Amino acid sequence: MMNIVILAGSNRKEATSTRLSEYIQALMVQKGKQVQLIDLYQTPVPFYSPDEGYHNHPGLANLKKSMLEADAIVLATPEYHSSISGVLKNALDHLSKDHFGGKVVLSVSSSGGAIAVSSLTQLQTIVRNLHGINCPEWISIGGDQRKSFSTPVAETIQPDVEKRVKHVVDAFLQLAGQMSKTKAH
Ligand SMILES: Cc1cc2nc3c(=O)[nH]c(=O)nc-3n(C[C@H](O)[C@H](O)[C@H](O)COP(=O)(O)O)c2cc1C
Repeated sequence: MMNIVILAGSNRKEATSTRLSEYIQALMVQKGKQVQLIDLYQTPVPFYSPDEGYHNHPGLANLKKSMLEADAIVLATPEYHSSISGVLKNALDHLSKDHFGGKVVLSVSSSGGAIAVSSLTQLQTIVRNLHGINCPEWISIGGDQRKSFSTPVAETIQPDVEKRVKHVVDAFLQLAGQMSKTKAH
């Protein structure tokens, strides 16, 4: 069974990017996928330092193990200063191409302004650097679209947002499925 990890990179309890991540997780579970959501607010990882081994940090050990075992990955971030959150960047600094190499990666962002393209572009640059395969689709929710994720179960989701998210999730799963078939041969 395809194993997907969603890494939610907001440090905010009510984060719309995290609630969107939960919605994406639910859509994927409906399609029979095994999906683990790692919320960096709930399970923070220490500041990265090349001098440290972090042998006894359970949150970090779990993050590394899960990312290693993932067949495909979703990265979700709030748009901060036209970039990704420091929390997500710090988590990614702990990881390498061992965790991302050859895997399809979907980028997701939430912004105060209309679109979150700046952080999404930068996230795709990081994914490329980690030898991941950027999904050609991405998800940006901005401005009032964030109201779709003002409740934990997306009860208030707007029809256009729902359509877009479902479309992108389907495209991501299709590409991830094709890539894992290629790897099996
Ligand atoms: C430090 C900081 C920087 C931000 N920078 C931007 C920005 O550059 N562009 C933007 O549209 N929104 C910006 N925002 C607004 C956030 O993108 C917005 O609150 C978003 O919903 C956060 O995602 P979250 O709901 O997942 O926490 C910023 C917010 C903070 C706290």
